[in-house]
Amino acid sequence: MGAYYSQGGSVCRLISTNYLEVCISHIIKPIEANRPDFVGEVIGIDLTRTLTDTEVDAIHTGMDRFGVLVFHNQHLEDEQQIAFSRQLGKLEEATGDIMSEKDRRLSMELNDISNLDKHGELLPRDDRRRLFGLGNLLWHSDSSFKDIPAKYSLLSARKIPGAGGNTEFADMRAAYDALEAKTKSEVHDLICAHSQIFSRGILGFDDFTDAERAKWAPVRQRLVRRHPKTGRLSLYLSSHAGGIEGWPIPEARSFLRDLNEHATKREFVYAHVWRPWDIVMWDNRVTMHRARPFDPQEVRDMRRTTLTNEVSSLEQGPI
Ligand code: OGA
Ligand code: MN
Repeated sequence: MGAYYSQGGSVCRLISTNYLEVCISHIIKPIEANRPDFVGEVIGIDLTRTLTDTEVDAIHTGMDRFGVLVFHNQHLEDEQQIAFSRQLGKLEEATGDIMSEKDRRLSMELNDISNLDKHGELLPRDDRRRLFGLGNLLWHSDSSFKDIPAKYSLLSARKIPGAGGNTEFADMRAAYDALEAKTKSEVHDLICAHSQIFSRGILGFDDFTDAERAKWAPVRQRLVRRHPKTGRLSLYLSSHAGGIEGWPIPEARSFLRDLNEHATKREFVYAHVWRPWDIVMWDNRVTMHRARPFDPQEVRDMRRTTLTNEVSSLEQGPI
C-alpha cells in the first residue's frame, strides 16, 4: 500500500508505483448504506505504528464527516493506544471516575471502562466503583460534566462478554436537523448545567464523598453546538445535564427528557457489536453513546483514551 496524500481536500493514496489513486471514500466507508454520514469503517490503517501526517488528516476528515469511526483488528498495548491518541490531539486525564489512586488498574491517561479491580478480579456486584460505572448505561457525552469537555473518545475492546455489552451511538446532528423550526429557535441559546451528581442520581446512586461533590459541581454547556469545521449544528445532550439556566428544575428536566427521547429514536442510533481488538472513536461534540448490559459474571475489559476539546462549549462564537 502506498503513502497517503491530500489532493483537492480529499485524502488519496498511491496504490501502485504508477498513478492509481483512491479517494478517502475507499478507505473510510459508511458502515450502513442507508446512513452515509454516520459511522464509518476505516480500512487499511494500522494503529499500532506511528501514523503519517496524511493518515492523521484522513482520520480527522473521517471524524468530521462520520462522527464515529470503527477500526477492526487493532492489537494495541496501552502505550500504543496512548501514543496513537496523542497523534490526534491533546489527551484529557481520567479524572471522571471515583477510583482512588491506590485502586487504579491503569495509568491516568486511560479511563478504565471494565468491571475489574487492579488485580484483574471481577468487582463485586455492590461495589461502589461498579455501581458508579453503571452510569454509562445512560445516554451521555463524555466529560460534559467538565468545564472543558471531551472532543474524541477512543475505546479499545480488550476482552468482551459472550453476549450483550454493545455500545450504542446516537447522531446529534441528525437529531438537531429533525427538530421543528420552533424548537430549533427555542433551544438555540440555551445553557445547561451538567454534573455527574445529576446523572448518577437518575440511577439512585448518591454515595459521593464531600470532595467528589465539590469536584463535580455543575458546569455550564451550550445546548446547541456548531462544529468548528463543518459548521453543522448539533444537540449537546447528556445524562449529566440536570438543569437549564433561567428555567425551573422540573420544567428543564422534563424538556431535556423529551429532547433525549427525540434524539435517541432508533433512526438516529447505531449499535456497535464489539469484536475483541476493535477500536471505536467518537466525537463527543456531535454524538451521544451508552453501554448496554451484559452478564456481570463475565469480564468486559475496555480502555478509553480521551482527547480534550481544549475550549469550553461556550466558546464557539455566535451561531
Ligand atoms: C465510555 C462509555 C460505553 C461502553 O467508554 O465512555 O461510555 O459500552 N462506554 O462501555
Ligand atoms: Mn462514555
